[in-house]
This record gives sequence, structure tokens and C-alpha cells, in this order.
Amino acid sequence: VKKIAVLTSGGDAPGMNAALRAVVRTANHYNIECFGVREGYNGLIHDDFTKMGPRSVKNIIGAGGTILRSARSLEFKTKEGRQKAYDNCLKHGIDGLVCIGGDGTFTGAKIFNEEFGIKVIGVPGTIDNDIFGTDNTIGYDTALNTAMEAIDKIRDTATSHNRVFFVEVMGRDAGFIALNSGLATGAVDILIPEKKDSIEDLFATFERAEKAGKSSSIVVVAEGEKLGSIYDLAKATKAGFPDYDIRVAILGHIQRGGSPSCADRVLASRLGFGAVTGLMEGKTNVMAGLQSNTLVFTPFEEAIKKHNEINQELMLLSEILAI
Ligand code: F6P
Repeated sequence: VKKIAVLTSGGDAPGMNAALRAVVRTANHYNIECFGVREGYNGLIHDDFTKMGPRSVKNIIGAGGTILRSARSLEFKTKEGRQKAYDNCLKHGIDGLVCIGGDGTFTGAKIFNEEFGIKVIGVPGTIDNDIFGTDNTIGYDTALNTAMEAIDKIRDTATSHNRVFFVEVMGRDAGFIALNSGLATGAVDILIPEKKDSIEDLFATFERAEKAGKSSSIVVVAEGEKLGSIYDLAKATKAGFPDYDIRVAILGHIQRGGSPSCADRVLASRLGFGAVTGLMEGKTNVMAGLQSNTLVFTPFEEAIKKHNEINQELMLLSEILAI
């Protein structure tokens, strides 16, 4: 490869900038020209390319968000949009593309590669950790720590007022953030979409907690939980335990912001490097990931469709330790 382009797409995640920096500087190291594309696939379509060198990514390793900006492009979902994107890649002589994002980003990248043959490598950047082929996605560790710190703060007020808090964390259809932040904060129960939950089980947990002498509790709920919305759950609990003083807190987008953790900066640096060297080795239609501390490439098809299993041991542990 002689000229590559790099973009960030989908929901932003802490560490995207660190990955971008690694792509740009690795390209520079191997004498590959590098263009940044603004606002994800929209920038490919609207010819928003900018030449990048080592100094264009100075001081961004610790910055949250993405300096290239991000978007979930509807136009790229159309054949016409992708044709325009390809024409712009041709115009700039791009022969390799690095797409930093989540499963939506990889779905677009896969179609683009299959339609036009342009070499594409993905770098998993999403707080949800819902991508197969990497132990952790970029941004997940930082989001976990943000959620943990926020829940710790909620714990202070829950304890002071003898309250029950239902706290919703992000993760789309995955419960990784909920399970790990819940375990780390001693949540009395953790409700995630991967586990079949029932109101009866939740009530049994509260009864057990009461018997154990608990005077306040935190229930962490994944946003994708199937049992009901966090408000439904709080309402049902109030009906079952009228004496409880219940509050709901939805952590929301604070989980997507902030300076990336050390683990995310290192992961992003390794995967950004891996994406460029992968392109140089002729790899395409794959995602760079880190499994057991080793760089691996997984076909987009698998990365999108398969799922990392929820760790059953962690689930059991959270139940044993919460009482
Ligand atoms: O994929 C990242 C994520 O933050 C999910 O956890 C959440 O479901 C979604 O994006 C929120 O998207 P938006 O930023 O469009 O509200």
C-alpha cells in the first residue's frame, strides 16, 4: 500500500484518538501517505479528506472523543453513496482504508470491500465491548471506570438515605459494562440481556439483602435489559416493597467521554499499528484485535455476527459477594 485513509465512525469511544495517532504515525514510519477522513463515511462521500502527518496527531493520545469526528452515515447505506465514496478514494489514489468503530462501521466496511475491492481493515472502537475477535474493544475500559466512579458516588447518597437505586448503564444489547461495573461496585443485583431475569428473582434478592441487614442497595441495569425499562423495574419494586425509598439514575453519555485509560491507550496504539501493518501484508476485510495479548485478525463477518460470551464465573461471583 502507498496511500491509506483512516476514519472514525459510529458512537465515539475514548481511545479513538490514540488509535488514529497510531495509524498516522505507523504509516509515516513505513513511508505510506495517510489521509484523515472527517465524520466517518460521510467524509468519504463528500470528499472531506485531509492529509495527515506525525504532527497532525500531536497531543491527542489522551484526548477523549475523536478529532476526526464521527457519524452514523445513512448515505453510506445506499449504493449511490458508496459509489461516490469509492470515486473519491480513486481520486485521491487511496489503496487501503482503516475504519475505527463498532459493528455498524464494520458492516459498511465489509460491503464497501466486497463491492469495490478496496482493502479495508477495522479497528474495534466502542464502549460496548460487543465485538467478537478481541478481548476488549477500545473505550470499554475507560467507560467501565467512568461507570464505576459514578456508581460509587451514587452509593454514598444511597447509604446516607437508606435508599434503593436502580442505575442504568450503556452497552446497547450487551451486558459487559453492567456486569463488570456492578461487580466492581458491589451491586446487590445486576440485570443484563444475556441472562434471563425475573421480577421474582429480583424480589428474592431484596428479601435476602434485608435479612442480611442491608439498609441500602444498588441494582445495575444494562440498557438492553429485556425484563423492562428501568422505570418499570423501579415501579414494580415500589409495588412489592412500599417502604423502599427508590431512585433511578441513568448514566448515559458520560460513559462515552473523557480521557482514555492507560489500558485503552495501549490497546488503541497496538491495534492502530496492527491495522497498518495488516494492510501492508495484504490483509483485507478483517478486523485487528487483541486476544490473550496477541494481535489477531478476524474476518468482519465473524466480528459482527459472533459474540463474546458473558463470563459465567463473574456472574456467580457478583451474586456471592453482593450479600
Ligand atoms: O454503541 C455505543 C453506544 O453508546 C451504546 O452503548 C448506546 O446504546 C448507543 O451508542 C447510544 O447511541 P447515541 O449516541 O446515538 O445515543
